[in-house]
Amino acid sequence: MSFKDMESVAQAMVAPGKGILAADESNPTIKKRFDLIDTESTEENRRTYREMLLTAPGIADHISGVILYDETLRQKTADGVPFPTLLSGMGIVPGIKVDTGAKDLAAFPGEKVTEGLDGLRERLAEYYEMGARFAKWRAVITIGDGIPSDFCLHANAHALARYAALCQEASIVPIVEPEVLMDGDHTLAECEEVTNRALTEVFAALAAHRVHLPGIVLKPNMVISGTECADRAGSREVAEATVRCLAAHVPADVTGIAFLSGGQSAEEATEHLGIMNTMGPHPWRLSFSYGRALQAPALAAWRGKDEQLGDGQKALLKRARLNGLASSGGYTVDMESAA
Ligand code: 13P
Repeated sequence: MSFKDMESVAQAMVAPGKGILAADESNPTIKKRFDLIDTESTEENRRTYREMLLTAPGIADHISGVILYDETLRQKTADGVPFPTLLSGMGIVPGIKVDTGAKDLAAFPGEKVTEGLDGLRERLAEYYEMGARFAKWRAVITIGDGIPSDFCLHANAHALARYAALCQEASIVPIVEPEVLMDGDHTLAECEEVTNRALTEVFAALAAHRVHLPGIVLKPNMVISGTECADRAGSREVAEATVRCLAAHVPADVTGIAFLSGGQSAEEATEHLGIMNTMGPHPWRLSFSYGRALQAPALAAWRGKDEQLGDGQKALLKRARLNGLASSGGYTVDMESAA
């Protein structure tokens, strides 16, 4: 695939009215989600759940791509259709999480660095053969007493850029995800300061590693108060600070930005995206790549029960539709009760 082809894939991933479903929870993470609904995390239950999501009727109207986990990429529908084949048949781009998780950064207490570079070239080649056309790598930045350190930001940006360059070599569009966590009592201003630093490091590293920016999708956090902050900023402030921060750091030739939800409620994540898309025009598309904000209502409606698979699908479709509207500036909060 040429750079032009990767640009087309990136454009499809952030097409107006659509966004990405992040369904790439590792097995330890999906177990935590299943624990909340008293459902055992067996391979078959995970397969059933992912089939529920991917076969929701009309999902392709609002979902442009799905990030899968290694196990899921290899699974099939009950009728025997491999999940990547199912997705591409509907015009949805199949993607794959390729990092192997955030691990403690030696000598930097409280900080993490994401692993997964060893053998990545070979894994990307296999994933491409299996139908994946984009990948994801998540770096995790924690705000706390004296952290993040410049070293942690630099180490994570370096790994993200090495990953992104390897993806493009393999004709796979990299989702570049530097996540500043919402955990903690920090203010919106502190989140903005750290996000500014993180994005500065990321774009410097991408340039140094000769990554072709129109062939990536950036997946940042929104600039938002910590979950424990005593005086949390309102939604307009979140939208304005996020756009200000991105405008300062993200070159105009980046095709698209697809936010993570990061622990925001499903409704908050939609509202914030909706406001940002009424503030344009922006040089890049602003869309979503939500995990929890798309799936939490679907999990709660399903609860591991076969007879509630349809309810789970309805709950997913509602969030997908409303986020699709938010990604094209057509969302208003009153649509929540009307839907
Ligand atoms: P959340 O939207 O739940 O933050 O998940 C997105 C994701 O892919 C995290 O890496």
